[in-house]
Amino acid sequence: MDVTTLIHNIRRLYTLDPKAEGLGVIEYASVGIHEGHICWVGSAKDAPDCENRVDGTGLIGLPGLVDPHTHSVWAGSRADEFAQRLAGANYADILEGGGGILSTVAATRAEMTTTLRAHAKERLHHMRSRGVTTVEVKSGYGLNTDAELAMLKAADPVGLGVHVVRTFLGAHTVPAEHRSNRSVYVDEIINEQLPICAPHAEFVDVYCDRGAFDLDESVAILTAGKSLGLKVRAHAEQVSHTGIAKAAAELGATALDHLEHVNEAGIAAMADAGTVAVLLPGAQLYLKDKSPPIEAFREAGIPMAIGTDLNPGSSPVHDIWTAATLATLIQGLTMEEALLGITRHAAQALGLSNVGWIGVGSQADVALFAPPPGEPPIMESLLQHMGLPGANVVLVSEPSNA
Ligand code: NIG
Ligand code: FE
Repeated sequence: MDVTTLIHNIRRLYTLDPKAEGLGVIEYASVGIHEGHICWVGSAKDAPDCENRVDGTGLIGLPGLVDPHTHSVWAGSRADEFAQRLAGANYADILEGGGGILSTVAATRAEMTTTLRAHAKERLHHMRSRGVTTVEVKSGYGLNTDAELAMLKAADPVGLGVHVVRTFLGAHTVPAEHRSNRSVYVDEIINEQLPICAPHAEFVDVYCDRGAFDLDESVAILTAGKSLGLKVRAHAEQVSHTGIAKAAAELGATALDHLEHVNEAGIAAMADAGTVAVLLPGAQLYLKDKSPPIEAFREAGIPMAIGTDLNPGSSPVHDIWTAATLATLIQGLTMEEALLGITRHAAQALGLSNVGWIGVGSQADVALFAPPPGEPPIMESLLQHMGLPGANVVLVSEPSNA
């Protein structure tokens, strides 16, 4: 076997290998890499020879982390809206009044230059510096064909340094120019935006809620995207209950996101379809919403993933560790669930089977973390300290589409 890079003597490696027991922990572990894939995993004392070594001594090893829900491409600032919400204004009211997402749409349409990509790239580089190697990125601040396409192109994976999964979200909200005749906009999404944008995306998404799309409109849009070969997901049951979780699961949704207001029928349909629940505690916290029904997800055997939902409004959260720690604190996940939520289950939410775990054949994404000073080298130290923001990460990664 030809090992081209050996990560040697990792103090505690969490492989998250689905074939292993529990979290797949190996003490004093080594990991061999060949041509972008893991080719050897085991005890450091049995490690194969290799000249090109990365020293893992004293470090915590994890698969490169996966952020399964971000809006990393945008222009403008909504700091003023944050102030309004702190003073008591409501997120959905601001959107219905023409602000919120719509204010980012105005700023993004005005910024269709290289700056749009440059800022997205900076955001993704920051994520990478925190151990993230796979990121989902949505459109949704363009809301016309040219601007949606420009957003997806701004997230073109080549040169971004992380593996990017793109999602078409032309159905984020109805733009100002179509508010008086929304069916024209739904038709435009189905007949123009989707056919042009689908080749640049892997998922179709819709925001089904007050101020955005109703259930029938959402189902029509998701069905159209699915017929073009896109995988299905949705911003579901976030601010109010709409029934989209059940309907989207019945369409075979890979993942459904937010879910603060999902009901039993939605949960049952998700369990039947094998849909992943993507938890977004940043949005829950910033919008002072209630927690999704975590215990019901557990009972139904629904895998739970965690995303930052990075966006300029409801969740200006850049760090996946912040999201993971918040999921334990305000949503009640165990630390094991939180770790799965930013690794294997997050990959599953993106329909990816080769990332989010470490084992022979998986993609060569390994993140090494120094524990916080004085703390033991275990994942619990990282989760308690929000990953220790700072320079504690060594990344060994060869992203396949970056
Ligand atoms: O996931 N809820 C709708 N979409 C985003 C918010 C985007 C925004 O506020 O700009 C979300 O929370
Ligand atoms: Fe979102």
